[in-house]
Amino acid sequence: MNSFLLVERVSYHKPNMPTAPYVNPRVLEAQFAVRGPIPMRAEQLQAQLRAETADGGTSVLPFTEIIHCNIGNPHAFSQKPLTFYRQVMALVDAPMLMEIDGVVAHLPSDVVARAKQYLQQSGDGKTGAYSDPTGHLWVREAVAAFIARRDGTTVAPDARNIIIADGATSAVRLIMQLFIAGPSDGVLIPIPQFPLYTAQISLFDGTAAAYYLDEGNQWGLNAQDLDGCVKQLKQSNASPRLLVVINPGNPTGQVFTRATMEGVAMTTTLFSSQMKCIKRTFMVLAACLRASARVILHMPSPYHNTSCISLHSTSKGIIGECSRRGGYMELLNIAPIHHAQIVKLCSINVCSNFNGQVMTALMCTPPVQGDASYPQFREEYDGIFSDLKERAASLAIELNTIKGITCNSVDGAIYAFPQIQLPHKYVARNDALCAAAPPAERMAADARWALELLEATGIVVVPGSGFLQPEGTFHFRTTILPPKTQMAAMTSSIRAFHTKINELYA
Ligand SMILES: Cc1ncc(COP(=O)(O)O)c(C=O)c1O
Repeated sequence: MNSFLLVERVSYHKPNMPTAPYVNPRVLEAQFAVRGPIPMRAEQLQAQLRAETADGGTSVLPFTEIIHCNIGNPHAFSQKPLTFYRQVMALVDAPMLMEIDGVVAHLPSDVVARAKQYLQQSGDGKTGAYSDPTGHLWVREAVAAFIARRDGTTVAPDARNIIIADGATSAVRLIMQLFIAGPSDGVLIPIPQFPLYTAQISLFDGTAAAYYLDEGNQWGLNAQDLDGCVKQLKQSNASPRLLVVINPGNPTGQVFTRATMEGVAMTTTLFSSQMKCIKRTFMVLAACLRASARVILHMPSPYHNTSCISLHSTSKGIIGECSRRGGYMELLNIAPIHHAQIVKLCSINVCSNFNGQVMTALMCTPPVQGDASYPQFREEYDGIFSDLKERAASLAIELNTIKGITCNSVDGAIYAFPQIQLPHKYVARNDALCAAAPPAERMAADARWALELLEATGIVVVPGSGFLQPEGTFHFRTTILPPKTQMAAMTSSIRAFHTKINELYA
């Protein structure tokens, strides 16, 4: 198997009526399986279920609920928001609440103090005003202090190198926009990847070259494989501009070792010097939604000069505040021109949303021992953490007991990406169905599997083909988010469904 591949441009279905309204072909081309046809079908089934059971009726569907495992949306399940964060958010949003008798006395003193501090720092409470385009200075300083604490360094990064974003998504879009002007600009992405990256590359008309993660080695990244990607890009007259590293893995759930991240920095530096493009830029875009890409800074010369943009978000894990759209990027070893252009792009977008900025500051400054909120915060935080950890472990164990399904351990993300063995007859049946169907209804065999799983059980997962995967293999991505009892029901439904597929198409 090749360890790299140039991602083919997905051919979009051109409207054949000359009068069809015009749509940017780049938009038609962009794919986003996480919210694709299977979740759309799930919405229809959900509506049917609701309508049929509205007056105590019984649904004709073979399940009683839809279980959304397609999207990493922790609060959509039973995960509760952290009380301290929400209390501070509420007061910052509505300071007049503090004027109501008893409110301040009822709340922990650090909540009130923190809210007052944030209000004072945000233009004396003018929180509805635009902030600095890159985010309020106090938020960026909170992030810089957090990074220093986390990495055990005394020198915090310069707050000018922290850019607040509306979640990691808007940061990815901005960086892609900075570097992709057309097909001659290449981006190295992992396979499997989170489809945000290929979608953004499509939207900006860039060229994606993919390197494979090694499923047999806990979805490891072999930095030497990047070589093939760069050659592929060069053969198609594209220059590598960005290397996307997703850690912890989405959809794959693994955490790279320090040595892996060091290998990435070394390889990037090597390519840059070979191609004499240090100044012309080949940069690591590290979607390290939790771990630090700053290992680069501790490497010997010249590797510690690797240009890198590292992303973090308030959406995932224990915080799980997806809709607040909070997050930041840290610019490491960035040329002044890139910095200036990033600030310009932020200015064009005006500023990121204030609630996301507050959530980012809170993520970076949780209560500490001695604070009034600390005991409750600790209890809530540790409770969610141990619950996620337990679910991650039990999901992989359970899935591995199903004949025809194998799953690597979930080390640091809220996703698992199990491989499914599909019987040849099942794949052949899908080929036949596709051959007889209009182009818009054709699908990969694992998409058929995911659709049929949904119709039979109400479980919504995303087919591996939506993330790209090694040729001839089939996967699905599921989150680890359903609560324990629902998870047990879910794995037993998957077991029954896949066993039946094996029997029917043996
Ligand atoms: C690798 C990666 N990039 C970007 C995102 C988008 O995150 P956000 O909600 O912060 O926009 C996610 C979310 O799951 C992700 O896993």
